[in-house]
Amino acid sequence: MANIVLKNICKEYTKNQSIIEDLNLEIEDGSFTILLGASGCGKSTILRMVAGLEQETKGNILIDNKDMKNVEPGDRNIAMVFQNYALYPTMTVRENIEFGLKNMKIPKQERNEKIAEAVKIVGLQDFLDRKPQNLSGGQRQRVALARAIVKEPKVFLMDEPLSNLDAKLRTQIRTDLIELYQKIKTTFLYVTHDQIEAMSMATKIVLLHKGKIQQIGTPKEIYEKPQNVYTAKFIGSPPMNVIIKNTINPQFKFAPEETVFIGFRPEKATLEEQENCIKIPGEIVAKEFLGDQILYKINTGDETIQIKTFSKAIVEDKSCTVYIKKEDLHFFDKNEMRIDC
Ligand SMILES: Nc1ncnc2c1ncn2[C@@H]1O[C@H](COP(=O)(O)OP(=O)(O)OP(=O)(O)O)[C@@H](O)[C@H]1O
Ligand SMILES: [Mg+2]
Repeated sequence: MANIVLKNICKEYTKNQSIIEDLNLEIEDGSFTILLGASGCGKSTILRMVAGLEQETKGNILIDNKDMKNVEPGDRNIAMVFQNYALYPTMTVRENIEFGLKNMKIPKQERNEKIAEAVKIVGLQDFLDRKPQNLSGGQRQRVALARAIVKEPKVFLMDEPLSNLDAKLRTQIRTDLIELYQKIKTTFLYVTHDQIEAMSMATKIVLLHKGKIQQIGTPKEIYEKPQNVYTAKFIGSPPMNVIIKNTINPQFKFAPEETVFIGFRPEKATLEEQENCIKIPGEIVAKEFLGDQILYKINTGDETIQIKTFSKAIVEDKSCTVYIKKEDLHFFDKNEMRIDC
């Protein structure tokens, strides 16, 4: 186990064009930390710098309190799992898993024990003699995981390991990863652009935008108290509605004076009359039946909002009133920063 510290990290691929500018981050020992953000925000770059596959332009990276400057990837005590599995096609599952152990000069007997344990964790006992081409995507990703597990690294680094899998398999391997983490409690640093993946697995989420940290927190903190409009709109499915306050005056008189934006989650609003709520009149422009929930797109005149209800009855009228409890509102100032009240 180990913590990871990034100190004043800058990264430029091209001179004077920084992708990451003065990033400071501590990844706690034994945490499942997820770097989350839209495509191109610098997630893989950060992970690759931690792995030593990419050189930072400025700053220092410490793993287990040791500075990694000039430490080769193979000497960093990390294991990396990639989106494309990166298996050796000519080797069997066993050989793929064993390869790293041979490099580490681990004796045969011990290698066999480690392989047996790792394939048991990922459920690949019956596939040891197969070649990767004869495995499904999910099985291949499990081989990649087993290959990482046998190395018993201090840190697991994973770059979108589930994104090549279909939805069902993704959910399944997500659960496997949570179980794996519970079992071995090693530090996981995991990259994804999928907020659902991040919310379901992370003990800590680091939300990034254009190489800058927007918020660090547990999934619950990020969901319940987004620190800015960007975070509010990134998390949630569908994301938080954020409307400009003065489009729906005078109902928001109670909002803090400096409020410019008001947010509420689609699942916190309803079309059924309720006490102590603010009311927004609107017109239903689209409905989506999601099985246990119904998603409505509602035009309020100046804004289009989305609400998600668990109600069984589908509202058939076009005109409607949206009810939201005052305590479910989020307030943001002109700089799009949260106002706590
Ligand atoms: N080798 C490289 N040379 C030049 N620019 C690069 C290189 N690798 C990445 N970049 C640029 O750096 C930025 C961050 O890329 P990075 O791959 O870290 O993003 P990401 O958050 O992992 O995105 P994605 O979700 O699409 O994988 C992008 O603008 C990208 O074009
Ligand atoms: Mg990437």
